[in-house]
Amino acid sequence: MAVRILGICGSPRKSVTEYCVREALKEAAGLGGVDTDFFTVRGLKYGFCVHCDLCLKKESLDCLRQKDDLAGFFGRFITYDGYIIGTPVYDMNMSSQLLTLINRAMRPSWLLLQKDPGFFYRKVVGAIAVGGTRNGGQEMALQAINNVFFSLGIAPVSGGVLAYNGASVWSKNIPGLKGAEQDPVGLDMVRALGRRVGLMAKALRPQPETCGRPITGEGGMEEQKRVTLAGTL
Ligand SMILES: Cc1cc2nc3c(=O)[nH]c(=O)nc-3n(C[C@H](O)[C@H](O)[C@H](O)COP(=O)(O)O)c2cc1C
Repeated sequence: MAVRILGICGSPRKSVTEYCVREALKEAAGLGGVDTDFFTVRGLKYGFCVHCDLCLKKESLDCLRQKDDLAGFFGRFITYDGYIIGTPVYDMNMSSQLLTLINRAMRPSWLLLQKDPGFFYRKVVGAIAVGGTRNGGQEMALQAINNVFFSLGIAPVSGGVLAYNGASVWSKNIPGLKGAEQDPVGLDMVRALGRRVGLMAKALRPQPETCGRPITGEGGMEEQKRVTLAGTL
């Protein structure tokens, strides 16, 4: 059975980031045995996580406070084996649209990790950041995305040599395909990253669980659950 990879575009435009994410997905699919889907924040309306923790208290993978365009997103997200996450660089970080999506979607991940600490261990992610400036914060945005996935136990991968944290692209602030074409080296990183995510998703899926045992004691899973729920309003 093919592994499934989801590309997520964190740009509100159909532009360079979307092109890069689609390009990476194409490369992954070219390996064979990889199915891909694409998701974009463009045109969606959704609110911030307001830390009500209703999702945790009522054990829901969806936000129970806000009925908006993210309904059902996390439930679908967790069915994939790999992710390619692209962001435009906004103020030397990932876009607010992407961070809000992550805050909202990932909050209930705790419910899954409580039941199975290894829930995400066989999943893999690669990040792409597109900036208008050559050194405009792509590295920071890539690291910020990788950090989110470290915290879930999803394995961030690089594109290999020259793409250490993921793929960095310099659009020179030109939108669309023309912007992507400004940076052939960046596009090579994007394609390398796509192949790597595909390869790693294929390699990881059949591995038996080895490190998904609960962390116990003070600061462990049970204690964290207790203090998290005790701290909710
Ligand atoms: C609010 C905002 C902040 C930005 N901040 C940065 C930045 O810190 N560094 C940078 O290199 N480019 C920055 N840019 C430029 C975009 O990253 C760049 O134009 C990128 O190609 C946009 O991606 P897109 O075409 O896929 O939407 C910013 C753009 C906006 C709208």
